[in-house]
Amino acid sequence: MNSDEMFLRNKMHYEVPGRAEIYARKTSLHKAEEVIFAHLAGKMRGQPVLDIGVGQGRTTPYLRALSDLYVGIDYSANMLNACRAKYPDAALLLCDGRQLSFGDETFEVVYFCWNAIDDLDHEDRLRILGEVHRVLRKGGVFFFSSHNRDGRLPSAFDFGGFVGARRPLELVTKNTARVGRYLFNVYNHLRNRKHERHLPHYSIVNDGDRFRLMTYYIDKESQIAQLEAAGFGDVEVVGLDGSFVARDERCRDNWLFYIARKG
Ligand SMILES: C[S@@+](CC[C@H](N)C(=O)[O-])C[C@H]1O[C@@H](n2cnc3c(N)ncnc32)[C@H](O)[C@@H]1O
Repeated sequence: MNSDEMFLRNKMHYEVPGRAEIYARKTSLHKAEEVIFAHLAGKMRGQPVLDIGVGQGRTTPYLRALSDLYVGIDYSANMLNACRAKYPDAALLLCDGRQLSFGDETFEVVYFCWNAIDDLDHEDRLRILGEVHRVLRKGGVFFFSSHNRDGRLPSAFDFGGFVGARRPLELVTKNTARVGRYLFNVYNHLRNRKHERHLPHYSIVNDGDRFRLMTYYIDKESQIAQLEAAGFGDVEVVGLDGSFVARDERCRDNWLFYIARKG
């Protein structure tokens, strides 16, 4: 599977009717986001902030509370329309993060949330880093989350066991559904695992949406090196519980949040 195929495969996931409603069930910030938003509040207040992959707008009210100069973009019309319905007066644009329709040095802060950067293959990921670097002002901040290759990699063969229930009918229904989901996962994985790649600095792993998607996983050291090669520096890393992870510390969280500065 090449970059374009991976891009289209993962983009289709967001175009499915009803997908925005599923994501809209979460309205709160992740613990790490609470910490980072507070950490960067001074930097964001009143400044131009770009929210890439705004989706159904989970982060929109939190970032708009910090800045009137907030812009959200998404490449999925399906997701963006849900956001526009919720926030009709917000600046929300249909735009692909790989090709940002903004001038150089427009934003003080850019956020690409909920591991959406991992929907892209390696070349496209580097394009995003290049584009974010271009639209950030000198000293501006880019933060995002990404799947951690040092965390637990997903397995379609992980059944997770049977569940109990008080009534026999409930017991049968619940466990039949569990077996059905398990078989569907395994079926999808057997079809998609040929696309997996494990390279020295990153992996493309089959997971997400019942093993229909391909996802980029990277370890902390490689991600920091990748950011530095793209012109970012002074990188900070935050674990899922919101604690800062030292440069030489091994962290097994499934996701990590990165805060990187331009220049
Ligand atoms: C997991 S959802 C997260 C939505 C929302 N930001 C949140 O955190 O709840 C990821 C979003 O990123 C968008 N996305 C993924 N890749 C993108 C890209 N290259 N350019 C713009 N949007 C992208 C998807 O369409 C989707 O709406």
